[in-house]
Amino acid sequence: MTVVLFGESTGGLFERGVGQYPTVGDEVHFVTATDLSIIYGRSHSATGLTVGTVSSASGIPATLDLNRFVSRHCAIVGSTGAGKSNLVSVILEAIGSSKFPSARVLVIDPHGEYAKVSPGRSKVFRVTPGTGEHALVVPYWALPFEELLAITFGAMSPANEATVRDMVQDMKRAAAKQLANPPPAEAITADTPIPFSIRQLWFDLDDYERRTFKTEANQRVLTEVEQKGDPQKLISNVYPIHGPGGKEPFKNPSPRGISRQLELARSRLADVRYAFLFDPQGGYAPDLSGRTGSDIDGLVASWVGHDRPLTILDVSELPSDVATDVVGLLLRIVYDTLFWAGTLPVSGRTQPLLIVVDEAHRFLPEGGDSSCQRILTRVAKEGRKYGVGLTVVTQRPSEIDATIISQCGTMIALRTTNPSDRSRVAAAFPDDLGGLVDLLPSLRTGEGLFVGEAMFVPSRVRVWLTQAPEGGADPGVTTSWAAAIRPDPKHYEQALSNWRNQLKG
Ligand SMILES: Nc1ncnc2c1ncn2[C@@H]1O[C@H](COP(=O)(O)OP(=O)(O)OP(=O)(O)O)[C@@H](O)[C@H]1O
Ligand SMILES: [Mg+2]
Repeated sequence: MTVVLFGESTGGLFERGVGQYPTVGDEVHFVTATDLSIIYGRSHSATGLTVGTVSSASGIPATLDLNRFVSRHCAIVGSTGAGKSNLVSVILEAIGSSKFPSARVLVIDPHGEYAKVSPGRSKVFRVTPGTGEHALVVPYWALPFEELLAITFGAMSPANEATVRDMVQDMKRAAAKQLANPPPAEAITADTPIPFSIRQLWFDLDDYERRTFKTEANQRVLTEVEQKGDPQKLISNVYPIHGPGGKEPFKNPSPRGISRQLELARSRLADVRYAFLFDPQGGYAPDLSGRTGSDIDGLVASWVGHDRPLTILDVSELPSDVATDVVGLLLRIVYDTLFWAGTLPVSGRTQPLLIVVDEAHRFLPEGGDSSCQRILTRVAKEGRKYGVGLTVVTQRPSEIDATIISQCGTMIALRTTNPSDRSRVAAAFPDDLGGLVDLLPSLRTGEGLFVGEAMFVPSRVRVWLTQAPEGGADPGVTTSWAAAIRPDPKHYEQALSNWRNQLKG
């Protein structure tokens, strides 16, 4: 038999840690129901989130301390199908309950699983909103310059990149004068989130490449535009075509050689799949002078300043090549706003915010360096001081940035079979509980080890089943395959059309 000294109970009160060690010859007792309720029964029912029952004593509720759960961050890990999303739903239901009417929770939902959780207590944002949902828009002009450039134009030579950066900075400085509270021009760089027209930028870059010249009184001058273009409609200026073999009109002698990038940008800006970014509804799309009807404050207020406790940002429809950058931008907009809010009533210190990121390995790969990763690392490191908590959910703890896991005060490990994932979980467990890790492969679905700040006593917990209609439920293979009539193949046509239009059926 192995004994792990774990805590002691005096006068009906259980404490972690041992003050008095047993000696050889001491009595050993079986655990009784009363002992269990003394050990696990210290619940925080007033301030806590009850998510299930303690496995070894099913009558005892398992309750997370909400204060610590939010402010000390939490990692939820487990193999696929172990019950992570169900646990998140149960946590959201508990927070969405009437106990916390002013709660603020922001969920990054990469599979569209949480829209049905706590109906009436959540606001759902999606690129193509259904009834009762809201449009997810993220204005491109809030992106840091490098990401905007990569998404819109693709790679450029360093010299061209520098030119474009200067142009964006000038456009932002000019447009900033139209803001309600313009910052001083020196404070504005190409990275400052200030509206400017990317269509005008495209048009100016495009125009430069197309120019032709003629000679007039021994001077080289620009030829007149033959057909005027339209930046808003992405139509180029047309110049008289350059002559053959050094004859007038001449080509632009120093083009930037970015026609390929300009073509990519034109198709990106016109692509309906990117309209949430480049043509954001709700007054966030700037006119050619960079004037917008709404600003970032309106966006943050619509996300986390509404009257419901839960905000679900369904990012499942974002084009995959920009999903990480867009999620990074979203989080940066929210975090920076709350950060700079200082002590205002909407700051994180006054009204804390919990950010939940499901499928976190997509946004936080080990060794990655995206802006999404930078902002999440920042939240993990300093969020506690500014009232922003983080819950990361992943099936691959070994592939996720180790810093993030080490910053999580609470670890909830559901069934984990992969050895490298298990060793990452073991590293996050306190030394005296390392042995618990051996249980991980044999846990039942929906059963997990809850360890750390938010759980007074480390516990093996059976999580309840969410009340939401099954979102990530396993497809019922036998029932569907046993059906006598096969589905009509004509539906493939609709599926293809959905695919082409990027709309889920
Ligand atoms: N506590 C539970 N009790 C009973 N069944 C559960 C419980 N938790 C999850 N399940 C069932 O297990 C299945 C998978 O759960 P879930 O979607 O939460 O897995 P997951 O860990 O999020 O998987 P993935 O990593 O693939 O997203 C669901 O069909 C769900 O009904
Ligand atoms: Mg899941």
